Amino acid sequence: MNKSNKKNLPIGIFDSGIGGLSIMKEIQQILPQESFIYLADNLYAPYGLLSEQKVIDRSCAIMDFLTSKAVKMVVVACNTATAIAVDFLREKYDVPIVAIEPAIKPAVAISKKRKIGVLATKGTLQSRRFQNLIAQTQQDCKVYQQEGIGLVEKIERPDSNPLSINEILSPLIEPLLQKGIDTLILGCTHYSLIRQNIQQLTGEAVYLVEPGEAVARQLKHVLQQNGLLASKGSTPEYRFYTSGKKVILKNMVESYLDLPEDSVHFS
Ligand code: DGL
Repeated sequence: MNKSNKKNLPIGIFDSGIGGLSIMKEIQQILPQESFIYLADNLYAPYGLLSEQKVIDRSCAIMDFLTSKAVKMVVVACNTATAIAVDFLREKYDVPIVAIEPAIKPAVAISKKRKIGVLATKGTLQSRRFQNLIAQTQQDCKVYQQEGIGLVEKIERPDSNPLSINEILSPLIEPLLQKGIDTLILGCTHYSLIRQNIQQLTGEAVYLVEPGEAVARQLKHVLQQNGLLASKGSTPEYRFYTSGKKVILKNMVESYLDLPEDSVHFS
């Protein structure tokens, strides 16, 4: 297929669940003419507690699915899948991949107290890729790592835990505040969905760093470089797939993304 035919193909995007919608929202704002196929693998969420091999296997299964739908690009809207599987995916698949990882560099540039917190999944925090990223970018900053215990489960399946989001968050945020951080990296795309709860607990003095906007700009750049930006005036379509229950994804898409109803399809 030549480039002009490829331009209007959709962008594939995936996450272990609904967290990647926070990235899709940013992308859709700066690239409103693009079509998407979003896959939420919520039958297998949380990825952060799976073995490395399982995360690689799930990421490959999703890449097989997305590439079978003829996507022009893939966005890995999941820090955990990036941390564990992206090198493997880039080797195995021909399609260009834009991935997401905790935004240490911007946080280092912002932090005045030189004390940064990172809230991320166990899988991300334990990965070699993440530990290398910190070693290469932290400069003179102290980086305090906190696993977001219970958060993805609560966001994906609200009934699974009687505690409120704030009750789950509080013991995770408090130790970081005690360390004196002034900057907190949201290192899991699900956490952007509860940004307000997090900011409420940290107070306004702590700056929250999210990667969505930077990823959207990076994606635009890669599409431009490859001559793959969708034609102006094309009518975008948004297809959503899930390996689990459709209702959570559907509710979130309808309440969180501002998409024209007749262009949205759930499979
Ligand atoms: N939203 C994902 C991330 O950014 C995955 C969370 C999970 O399933 O544990 O890491």
